[in-house]
Amino acid sequence: MVAEPTIPTNRNVGVLVSGRGSNFRSLLDAKARGDLDANFTVVISNNPSAGAKAHAEEFGIPWVVIDHRTFASRQAFEEELVAQLRAHDVSVVVLAGFMRVLSSTFLDAYGGLTLNIHPSLLPAFPGLNAQKQAIEAGVRVSGCTVHLVDSGVDTGPIIDQAVVAVPNDDTVEALSARILVQEHRLLPRALGWVLDGRVTIQDQVVALDA
Ligand code: GAR
Repeated sequence: MVAEPTIPTNRNVGVLVSGRGSNFRSLLDAKARGDLDANFTVVISNNPSAGAKAHAEEFGIPWVVIDHRTFASRQAFEEELVAQLRAHDVSVVVLAGFMRVLSSTFLDAYGGLTLNIHPSLLPAFPGLNAQKQAIEAGVRVSGCTVHLVDSGVDTGPIIDQAVVAVPNDDTVEALSARILVQEHRLLPRALGWVLDGRVTIQDQVVALDA
């Protein structure tokens, strides 16, 4: 279950990352082009050596490491995430390649106002290696999904999806690259919708005020 999203109180966004940060970069680029009106007040990584750090530095976004391995419990880790997000006056959170499942400790604070991007057409192929799962299942199309986050693994009300073809001779690398192009298009647009207060939930399904 995802709480009814409240309308964001401001346009301050916190981004959570674990890796190279190309989706984080797509948000920064969209803002620089004038396609996204957002203030990125902090980016938080659970991985001290995440490549996303270089993008944060280039754009002058505060970079915070909260390494989950240094906390005694999931609850303590999430309490620190929420404390940092609140310290940076964040209204909306984007999981941009953030590879930790979040529980009620986090969702009580930011449920309904947290987006995730995933490289499959959810609810198909949640979890790790979604592109490999798609190829092994022999599907003819796959894609990516932006959704509001609940306590499941890549579950929660879907905001937007994009489809890519999966040809017979496809590889995980080639499919991942084609899906990534669509991820970088979808995520900034969906974030803009949430910041504009256009995303609401009715019966656990997103109603988009077009
Ligand atoms: C992206 O493909 C994103 O969809 C995926 O991790 C990658 C992060 O790349 N997320 C998940 O699989 C979440 N379950 P990035 O660090 O270059 O943005």
